Amino acid sequence: MKSKINSLAEYFKEYEKSINDPEKFWEGIANEFIWRKKWDKVLEYEFNTPKISWFKNSKLNITENIFERQLDNISNKTAIIWEPNNPEEDVIKISYKELYKKTCQFSNAMESNGVKKGDRVVIYMPMVPEAAIAMLSCARIGAIHSIVFAGFSSNALADRINDCNAKMVLTSDGNFRGTKNIPVKSVVDDALDNCKSVSKVIVLKRTGEKINMINGRDLWWHEVIENQSSEHEAASLDSEDMLFILYTSGSTGKPKGVVHTNAGYMVYTYYSFLNVFQYNKEDIYWCTADIGWITGHSYIVYGPLLAGATTLMFEGVPTFPDAGRFWEIVDKHKVNQFYTAPTAIRALQAYGLEYVKPYSLDSLSVIGSVGEPINEEAWHWYHDNIGKGKCPLVDTWWQTETGGIMISPLAGITPNKPAHASLPLPGIQPVLVDSEGKELEGNNVEGNLCIKFPWPSILRTTYGDHKRCKETYFSTYSNMYFTGDGAKRDHDGYIRILGRVDDVINVSGHRMGTAEVENAINENSKVIESAVVGFPHEIKGQGIYAFAICQKNDNDTVKTLEEEIKLTVRSIIGPIATPETVQIVSGLPKTRSGKIMRRILRKVASKDVSDLGDISTLLNPKVVEDIIKGAGL
Ligand code: WTA
Repeated sequence: MKSKINSLAEYFKEYEKSINDPEKFWEGIANEFIWRKKWDKVLEYEFNTPKISWFKNSKLNITENIFERQLDNISNKTAIIWEPNNPEEDVIKISYKELYKKTCQFSNAMESNGVKKGDRVVIYMPMVPEAAIAMLSCARIGAIHSIVFAGFSSNALADRINDCNAKMVLTSDGNFRGTKNIPVKSVVDDALDNCKSVSKVIVLKRTGEKINMINGRDLWWHEVIENQSSEHEAASLDSEDMLFILYTSGSTGKPKGVVHTNAGYMVYTYYSFLNVFQYNKEDIYWCTADIGWITGHSYIVYGPLLAGATTLMFEGVPTFPDAGRFWEIVDKHKVNQFYTAPTAIRALQAYGLEYVKPYSLDSLSVIGSVGEPINEEAWHWYHDNIGKGKCPLVDTWWQTETGGIMISPLAGITPNKPAHASLPLPGIQPVLVDSEGKELEGNNVEGNLCIKFPWPSILRTTYGDHKRCKETYFSTYSNMYFTGDGAKRDHDGYIRILGRVDDVINVSGHRMGTAEVENAINENSKVIESAVVGFPHEIKGQGIYAFAICQKNDNDTVKTLEEEIKLTVRSIIGPIATPETVQIVSGLPKTRSGKIMRRILRKVASKDVSDLGDISTLLNPKVVEDIIKGAGL
């Protein structure tokens, strides 16, 4: 663990080095890995196109760096501890050696079923070890995985499969979550009615649910691995070959496929994991995210495994069988580093301390937060009651697009300040800019957060649409990556993330585009027009508030229409996008050029209409009154 920073002075020294000579800095870290062929050049980039290559013309395989590089030392060490949804069911522990064999076996099985380098494989699976094995097997072959969170609807799944033209889908018969048994295979079946590219589906038996297997298309996981060798020669991949695509929401309607490539992503997830969590050789590390999100990719699977860590994977939910489940698991497995989301903290805080009290939580040395701004109250509750005041709390700011943690304390090394992501990791050069793109220097400034120099795990493109990548991230400000977040640098020079400045809503740490939800609502034939905004929500951070103009049938009531619209969203996107409130309105506030004034709708949604600003320029000022009345304000 050569590149681990051990003191504040060392952090400043490393940071300085990484800025003065980034290529030399990253080369030093890359040299810890094994390469089939080393690079010609560490970094070549041009932000305006954008065209970014790290470790240019090198050849490698990320799984070779997880397995072959480390097996001599940690062959019997537990790689994955799997905690099932039901605490009565047996825990599974998989050693590095076993994980290696299972990965090889499944790589062979996928190849026998026609998967080749460059093919896209969609993974729609529960939180089981096989999901990680599926990812690693794709990486070993050089197939590109695209994981779709198993809570998305069949429509959303079909859109993603079609966008990347996937050849294979990996799924399970069902998915245990709390008291629910979600029939994921039937969601896949529905999706595939509209996907021509998929020729094979491999199904893991998990719940024993009776499912429909389509002859010639559907295969059982346990059958395809039978008789497959547990050795497999890893493909030699180019540094810039795609490792995975992960769809995420943006300001415009369609989710975009963020692309990460092999070498840079490997180097950065390893480095950031080691340093942010200050992982020690014998530690048990647990990140509660789902592998369907970037946090699961980088900090359940790739980062920890590249660092030879023991990573815990939990199938269930924080409130089953009761709201003490997280803490029970921490004690049961003696978890050292615990990484979760503010929304989970706030939800558990609301259940009360009696669910925390029965557990000692003595093993914890680092606690972490990710996905949305953590408010000070939740920060203190987490720090005092879970970290017992003795664990550093790493508030990690980053994005699907950044691949790894960008701004965060390094546990116990750099300062901890409530609700502040604080300082950038070495190699990361954040800047705050005003609306003209002018850099705001010094402290006590607030602006839009950009990054002015590439880091190894920066996104390379959005799949099939490079122009969109350019427009979304590299065109707002010249020569910078624009994050879409607003931030403040306080008087101490620490960064506090203020939230999105674009039309993205962050619901329980899940990104939703307002246009994406509006498009879904508009699929309901009774809806004429809709507008969606976010509003502050005590547990979820933000909730979705939808305004809709509808054409009523005789037997529709306002209530039935509202319910119908919610159902439409659930079926088009999935339960996570369901609006908290739907308000049926007669019109929407618009400017004379026809643009919806979301500012006004946001005020209504947050139940504060004291200062609406100037509405006299609206096309239809009266409609505002009606909306306010309709909202019961
Ligand atoms: C938000 C999740 C404040 C932010 C890793 C970002 C945060 C978006 C934090 C990315 C944090 C993430 N403090 N806000 N510590 N972490 N965000 O792509 O708005 O699912 O742009 O990646 O979440 O969400 P994504």
